[in-house]
Amino acid sequence: MPKIIKTIKEMQETSIALAARGERVVFVPTMGYLHDGHRALLRAARPRGSTLVMSIFVNPAQFGPREDLGSYPRDLDRDLRMAAEEGVDIVFTPEAAEIYPEGFRTYVEVEGLSNTLCGASRPGHFRGVTTVVLKLFNIVMPRAALFGRKDFQQLTIIERMVKDLDIPVEIVGVETVREPDGLAMSSRNSYLSGDERKAAVCVPRAMEEARRLVAGGEARSAAVIEKVKKIIEKEPLAVIDYINVRRAEDLGDAPIVDGSSMLFLAVKIGKARLIDNTRLK
Ligand code: PAF
Repeated sequence: MPKIIKTIKEMQETSIALAARGERVVFVPTMGYLHDGHRALLRAARPRGSTLVMSIFVNPAQFGPREDLGSYPRDLDRDLRMAAEEGVDIVFTPEAAEIYPEGFRTYVEVEGLSNTLCGASRPGHFRGVTTVVLKLFNIVMPRAALFGRKDFQQLTIIERMVKDLDIPVEIVGVETVREPDGLAMSSRNSYLSGDERKAAVCVPRAMEEARRLVAGGEARSAAVIEKVKKIIEKEPLAVIDYINVRRAEDLGDAPIVDGSSMLFLAVKIGKARLIDNTRLK
């Protein structure tokens, strides 16, 4: 079983001792309720360092006042079993008051990238993500940290923060893990009822259609978006939040599809907000 650490003091002392011994710490931050997407992160992380640290922290700062902080799924025992199976050495799992004690008032914000796509629908979300990720980096002091490409905007923002603030952590993106029908794995998929789970397949199906359209010669992003919209709208349980085509490097507008263009979607089905993305070429 991995060692469990709950305080910042113990985690920082451990990190300093590990560095002094020449250990290379690799880090996988999570909010728990682990699935095979997290397993892929841990498997990619394990060979990259001598000590593998995973955090489990449901970060209140990245949830809006009407979002699912209270009902976010949690199962620490199951998470610890998966951590043990994947060779995690240390699980850092602090309480919210440890990370945000009374008087806390410093936040990190990556301008521009944080208020588009998911940031437009979830104001303040990415400010919460970057703040906690920077705090976790300062606590765990990793040499490398791994993030899933399903949250491509999050990955882009963290890469920008690390560059802009000269944070000595290598950021590694890991491919999205999908269910056999193409649905991207997510802890929030557990919110889906049987019918909603069946409906959710409209998201990967629409992405596949978009790639097919582009492969067939369509280069206008507006036409691709229209096609995706039609497919999702056919599903009565699905409510579109956004469908956009953007440049991978800086999430800027991409009216004409080229090698860097990506399709980004957010669709609500019941209580679950599903996000996904795909390269179009
Ligand atoms: O992707 C997540 O699970 C979270 O946003 C992260 C990176 C652990 C920060 O809370």
